[in-house]
Amino acid sequence: MMPPLPDVSMPWMTRSTDRLPPARDSAKSFSCHSPTSGACSSRTFPPAFLSPEKPGVESQSTSARTKPDSTRSRSESGCRRSSGPVSCFGFLGDMLVILPYRSRTRQATARHTRPMRLLLADPPPAELARAPGSELDDADLVSLYAVPRTSQRWLRANFAASVDGAITGSDGRSGSVNTQADHVVFGLLRALSDVVVIGAGTARNEGYGPLPVPRRWRAAREDNGIGPRLPLVVVSARGHVPSRLEGLNDGSVVLATHGSAEALEPARRSLGEDHVLVCGESAVDPAQLLELLAARGWGRVLTEGGPHLFGSFLEAGVVDELCLSVTPRLLAGSGPRIAVAGARDDPFVPRVLVEEDGTLMGRWFHAR
Ligand SMILES: NC(=O)c1ccc[n+]([C@@H]2O[C@H](COP(=O)([O-])OP(=O)(O)OC[C@H]3O[C@@H](n4cnc5c(N)ncnc54)[C@H](OP(=O)(O)O)[C@@H]3O)[C@@H](O)[C@H]2O)c1
Repeated sequence: MMPPLPDVSMPWMTRSTDRLPPARDSAKSFSCHSPTSGACSSRTFPPAFLSPEKPGVESQSTSARTKPDSTRSRSESGCRRSSGPVSCFGFLGDMLVILPYRSRTRQATARHTRPMRLLLADPPPAELARAPGSELDDADLVSLYAVPRTSQRWLRANFAASVDGAITGSDGRSGSVNTQADHVVFGLLRALSDVVVIGAGTARNEGYGPLPVPRRWRAAREDNGIGPRLPLVVVSARGHVPSRLEGLNDGSVVLATHGSAEALEPARRSLGEDHVLVCGESAVDPAQLLELLAARGWGRVLTEGGPHLFGSFLEAGVVDELCLSVTPRLLAGSGPRIAVAGARDDPFVPRVLVEEDGTLMGRWFHAR
């Protein structure tokens, strides 16, 4: 028999007695482009988690988990006329019947013929009137991935892994693992966060720069009461500022290190004293890091890895949620998994599962 689910409140379960201050507007209209089911629509849903605008600057350049090289996803292609799942497959379905199997496979991969659809929402958000199997639009995704309003602080991690658990391909980067579908959720998670925290290894390998908020999700970000800037926090035990981030002293980049870090003073000179967080005397203490971020008004924290940083967050017991995209490839080889830490057995509960083009995107809550 399945054990009972822990009592984890979701934003859509939140009542007026919540600890957070009331929303500036109790509900806002969110204009979205339905990627799969038709024309632009305007939906109304409550902001999920509200906070004042944060200091920082507008992002200048793009950087992310390395982008997949495949063609643009239909999910990113804006409005399209269709009356629902059946008509959505109408023309393509006819085409698929007459194509030989191998061409059919290629066709499906190249054109991203499958829409994003819901597989599980437990419990479903109140504003989500979709049954499992239904196609999802942007507003649905926003409510499915909302940060719980019951929590002043929330740390979620986001990774993409192959079906056999590799998070990098043979090139040592994530671009050979992730997909366009994963990138949609990747952008949304950023938009719903106050700050993104990564390890210096990921910053170096993936060439991170200041973070833009994807245009597609800016309205959702605003509706959730989050300011336009999305600071990047890089965690380094040595205190080294990755070369691509050196001299960015406008607040778009913050370094988190400890008081004995070998490069503490150069880091302060490079980013500015205000943009270097000292979180412990001889090692970075994850709990202290989160406290310092919260003191800056950054309570919704997204970590995009990598595995050493995520491992230390797990060991410190500060992880609330894992968003994991399982992409339809088996890579074998020696690619790392999502966490480098001593053996452990943390229970996680699946809350959301969506699928597009064979990529399964799950939202798992730590069951404390
Ligand atoms: N597929 C995905 O979703 C995904 C996501 C993220 C990363 N990746 C991949 O993962 C690989 C990087 O792995 P990684 O384990 O090296 O990444 P990482 O955890 O980002 O980087 C390790 C480095 O970050 C710093 N660091 C991490 N945790 C720390 C802590 N608790 N305290 C102090 N410093 C800490 C240290 O930097 P210093 O050496 O400067 O002290 C450490 O050497 C890359 O190839 C990247 O592509 C994949």
